[in-house]
Amino acid sequence: MQPDYDDCWLRYDEVPDGDLRESYRRLCTHAYVAEESRELGAVREELRRGLGGMLGRDPHLWQHPPRTVDGFLAVGTPGDMDVVAQAVDEDEIADLDEGGYVITTSEWEGIDTLVVTASSDSGLVYGTFHLLRLMAAREPVADVDIVEEPASPDRLINHWDNPFRGSMERGYAGQSIFDFERLPDLRERYRDYARLLASVGINGVILNNVNTQIPGREEGNEAMEELEGWRLLETRYLEKLTGLASLFRRYGIQTYLSVNFGAPEKVGDLDTSDPNDSEVEQWWAQKADEVYDLIPDFGGFLVKADSEGQPGPYNYDADHVDGANVLARALEPHGGRVWWRAFVYGSHKDRAVQQYDTFEPLDGEFHDNVTVQVKNGPIDFQPREPISPVFGQMPETDLGLELQITGEYTGQHVHACYHVPMWKEVLEFDTDPEGHGKRVKDLFTDEGTGMAGVGGPGEDRNWTGHYLAQANLYGYARLAWDPDLTTAEITDEWVKQTFGTDPDVVETVTEIMHGTWPAVIDYSTGGIGLMHMMYNGSAYLENHYDPGPEEWPGYTGITEDGIGKDRNSKGNGYAQQYPEALAEMYDDPESCPEELLLFFHHLPWDHELDDGRTVVQTLYDNLYAGVEETQRLRDEWRTLEGEIDDERWRHVAERFDEQVEHAGVWRDRLSEYFYEHAEIPDEQGRVPTDD
Ligand code: GCU
Repeated sequence: MQPDYDDCWLRYDEVPDGDLRESYRRLCTHAYVAEESRELGAVREELRRGLGGMLGRDPHLWQHPPRTVDGFLAVGTPGDMDVVAQAVDEDEIADLDEGGYVITTSEWEGIDTLVVTASSDSGLVYGTFHLLRLMAAREPVADVDIVEEPASPDRLINHWDNPFRGSMERGYAGQSIFDFERLPDLRERYRDYARLLASVGINGVILNNVNTQIPGREEGNEAMEELEGWRLLETRYLEKLTGLASLFRRYGIQTYLSVNFGAPEKVGDLDTSDPNDSEVEQWWAQKADEVYDLIPDFGGFLVKADSEGQPGPYNYDADHVDGANVLARALEPHGGRVWWRAFVYGSHKDRAVQQYDTFEPLDGEFHDNVTVQVKNGPIDFQPREPISPVFGQMPETDLGLELQITGEYTGQHVHACYHVPMWKEVLEFDTDPEGHGKRVKDLFTDEGTGMAGVGGPGEDRNWTGHYLAQANLYGYARLAWDPDLTTAEITDEWVKQTFGTDPDVVETVTEIMHGTWPAVIDYSTGGIGLMHMMYNGSAYLENHYDPGPEEWPGYTGITEDGIGKDRNSKGNGYAQQYPEALAEMYDDPESCPEELLLFFHHLPWDHELDDGRTVVQTLYDNLYAGVEETQRLRDEWRTLEGEIDDERWRHVAERFDEQVEHAGVWRDRLSEYFYEHAEIPDEQGRVPTDD
C-alpha cells in the first residue's frame, strides 16, 4: 500500500513517450548492482522504485553483467565489478573523499554502459540518488561525466525530537515521526526519512532535541522528568535504538544523540557531573563504551550546555573546554565526536556579545574530536543577522555551522519563506575582507568541521507543514554538500523534481520561492536591521509567531528619539569583535550595510538614509512593501491552478491567504509601535495616527 504521506522530491513520475524515455530505458532497464554491502540493498530498492516509476516498467536487477541487452546501468566499486574497473581510473576513485562518486558512460563488450561508482558504499548511495535526480529533472544521461565530492565532511540534521512526548521542538509539521517507546519496532516512515536525507547527502542524524531536560520544569516533578530526553542514555533506551541506527546505516547515515551535561548524576547516580572529577570522567568513558557496543558506527554526542536551563560546566566552576573535552576523551577511542554548541548564555545582557567573548579565548584548547557548533548569527535564527563573529576567528578550533531549517522566526511554515538565499548570503560572506579570502563556506570543509541543520519534519502528510518548506530541507543538504551551488541551481533542481519540468510551472514556482524571504524580512523587521520583535509570552515555547515588539526594547533599542542598538564602539562594542576591516565597516553608519544598520546603530527617527528617506519612513515603507509583495506572490501562486496537482496547489494557496493576513498583522503592529515612539506620521498616511 502507498504510504499516506508525500514523496517530497522523490516523486519519480513517469517520463513521457519520446527520445529521452527511450534513452533512459536503453541504459537503465537493466541494472547490474554489486552485492556486497548493506548500503547496496538500499541502492537496489531505490533503483527499483525510481527507475520503475520513471521508466514505467520494473527494471531488471542483475547480479552479473547482462550480455544480450543494448545497454545497462552498473553500480558498484571498481574492486567489486570489472565492468566498472574498465570504465574509470581506479586511482581517481580511490582518491575521492568519503562519500564522493563518479557517474560516467562507457562501453563494455560492445554494450553501452552507464556507470555509478565510488570507493565507499555511501558514495554509491549518493551517486545513485544523483542519477535518479538527473532523470527526474529530465536531463540526458547518455553522455555524462560527473565527479562529485562533499564539501563538508559532516552534514548533519539536528532533529529536535522530544522523545516520549511525541513532539518536536520548533517543528511545525505535527507530531514526532519517531516513536521511541515502540522501538526497536520500525515504521516505514523512518526508512522514507532516511531516503529523503540520503538522497541529498545527509550523513548524520542527531535523534533528539538539544533541550534534553524540559526547561522550566519544577524540581521534583517526576512525571515530567520521566519524559525528558536525557533518558535516551539509559541502557534500556540505548538498546532500543539499535534497530533505528541500523536502518539509517543502510543509507550511510550515522546516529548521534543529544546528551545532558548532568547525565552522570541523572543517568549514573553520581554526586556530581563536574568534568574535572575522575569518577565523572570514568562514567562518560563507560557510557561511551556501552553505546559503541550497541551501535558500532555511532557518530557522537551533541551538547547544549549553560543555556536556557540546560546544565553545563559553569554549574561546576569549570569552563567549556573542560566540559567538551571530558566527553571527547570518552568518545575518542571509538572515533566519535562531540558537537558542542556555542549558543550559551552568560553575563552579557546582549546575547550578541556573549558567544565570541566566551569561545574565542578558548581557541586551540578543544580536544581534536570536538566541533564547536555555531549558529549563523549571534542572536538566534532571525530572518537576517550578521554572521557570527566567531567565524574566521577561531582558526585552531573545528567549527560547525548551525542553520535553522525549520522556520521558527520566519512564519513557522504557515508562511512561505525559502531559506536558501539567506544561507547563501551567510556562506558567501567574506570573514576576512583584507584579502585572505576566507568565506564562511570555506570554514567547514576540513575533517572535523561540518554543517548542522536544525530540522523539524513531523507526521504531517507533507513532512514539513508547508509543501514549499520541503525546499528548505532539500536546500540545506545540497549546500552542505556543495556550498558553491547557487540559489538558482538549487531551486531549479528542487522545483523540477517536486513539481515537474513544465517550463511555465518551473518559472512561476521559482519566482515565488525567490520572492519569499525578502518579503518576510520586510514585513516582520522593516528591512534595515531590526530583529527579535516577536511575541514570546510567558510560557516556554509559547509563540515566536506573532508580533510582540514591546517585549524587546533591549534588542531594538527603541526610544522616543530613535531606534536601533549601538552595538558599536559607542555602545557595547559588539562590532569590534569582528576583524578590523569588518569592525570599521560596521562601526560607521555611513559604511554599515543598510540591511543591518539598526542592528549596529541607534539612529534618530529622522536620520536620512542614502536615498533621502528617513529611518522611520523607510521602516513604514518596507513593512507595507513586504505585505504587498506577499499578496503578489499569493496571486502568482493562484495562476498555477490546474497546472499542478490540486492537493498541493490548494494547500499552498490556503497558506498564502493566511500569510497575507498575518503579514498584515505584523505590518500593522510594528508600524503602530514605531509611530507610538516616533510620533512621526507616515508620509503616505497609511499608519494610523493619534488624530
Ligand atoms: C531558540 C529556540 C529554542 C531552542 C534554542 C536553541 O531559542 O527558541 O527552542 O531551544 O533556540 O537553539 O537551543
